[in-house]
Amino acid sequence: MSTLYTESRIGNMLLKNRFIRSATWENMATENGHMTDKLYAIYEELAKGEVALIVTGYANIVEEEKPNAGMMGMYNDSFICEYQKLTELVHQNDAKIVMQLAYGGTKTTFNVGERVIYAPSEVCERGTQTLGKAMTQDEIDYIVRAFAQASRRACESGFDGVEIHAAHSYLINQFLSPYYNRREDSYGGSLNNRMRLLLEIYAEIRKVVGDNYPVLVKLTASEFFEGGLTFAETRLICQKLQAIGVDAIIISGNIHGKADTMIGECFDGYKIQQEGYFHEYGHVISEEVSVPVITVGGLTDINAIEEIADKTNIQYFALSRPLLSEPDLIKRWKEGDRAPVDCERCSKCRTKRGNFCVVNKERKLKIAGF
Ligand SMILES: Cc1cc2nc3c(=O)[nH]c(=O)nc-3n(C[C@H](O)[C@H](O)[C@H](O)COP(=O)(O)O)c2cc1C
Repeated sequence: MSTLYTESRIGNMLLKNRFIRSATWENMATENGHMTDKLYAIYEELAKGEVALIVTGYANIVEEEKPNAGMMGMYNDSFICEYQKLTELVHQNDAKIVMQLAYGGTKTTFNVGERVIYAPSEVCERGTQTLGKAMTQDEIDYIVRAFAQASRRACESGFDGVEIHAAHSYLINQFLSPYYNRREDSYGGSLNNRMRLLLEIYAEIRKVVGDNYPVLVKLTASEFFEGGLTFAETRLICQKLQAIGVDAIIISGNIHGKADTMIGECFDGYKIQQEGYFHEYGHVISEEVSVPVITVGGLTDINAIEEIADKTNIQYFALSRPLLSEPDLIKRWKEGDRAPVDCERCSKCRTKRGNFCVVNKERKLKIAGF
């Protein structure tokens, strides 16, 4: 049997196979970010589908800044009880669960104008054109503490770890980026300065959760545009993350929805792939650090995943849209039905009624019938 179904560890977290549900905002929490029956059902179904680790959708760490509708919250202690129920449910089904924590920032068009949105500098987000407020030192300290407090709550709720969202043009990614970060203080300029926010968040989280609690970081391989964060810089960031003790690094990109149209294109010397868009980038990093590397994006075929596992040091494979389409995909593959996933990568899974696979009609009806 391939290594894909063997046990391994991320930090002290024992995983039964190499498949991860990539963080996926479900748009099914209440207006204040609280759990609903639909959400419990989705997580139970994923755990039953034999994915080793589920990463939650991004959870907001401060009450006043919610970048999207229906996302889960982690901004005060009122969440602990309901998340204890969630983590128990997942554990009962022999899976692990990590909470993804995020400060959204300007990559949003949701309720813009109704709240203050922080950014490193006053530079519009390229996709949304949303402009943020350049953060003061007090505001930076506030966000650093909020990440740490949200992590404490995750730990008390029974989550097996936390994932810091430092990718996809959200706040931390923007601090890393020379395009978005035009600061002239100790948070801007050199890569060391641009990394400072991420490193401070990590250090503050560690102070609160201790050395043994798994902390994962999701990064963008490259910003894939002139003047943005380059892959060469991301490689250096990964070295630093290894040095400070991060437990796993997820190598992603910020081109979802259009990645399929970019297949075959080269950026920073490596190519966007048909199967596993960013796996060439993940492979390079996996050769340079001993921290487990997770690849995400465009993984739909078990044969291709096996080949990547055989030929690279990438240890884990995270999927989002495929598991919206088929939550029991990993079980199906493990049981020997190796047909590719029923996912057209159309990215129409974000809907106002919640995020689910609109192509897979049967499943749509099932969810609508809750
Ligand atoms: C509906 C939807 C919601 C998503 N929500 C998140 C999220 O909350 N946090 C995150 O880091 N990525 C999020 N993503 C991106 C995925 O985690 C993943 O990186 C991307 O979809 C590529 O993987 P895939 O080809 O397996 O879908 C989301 C993607 C989709 C389709």
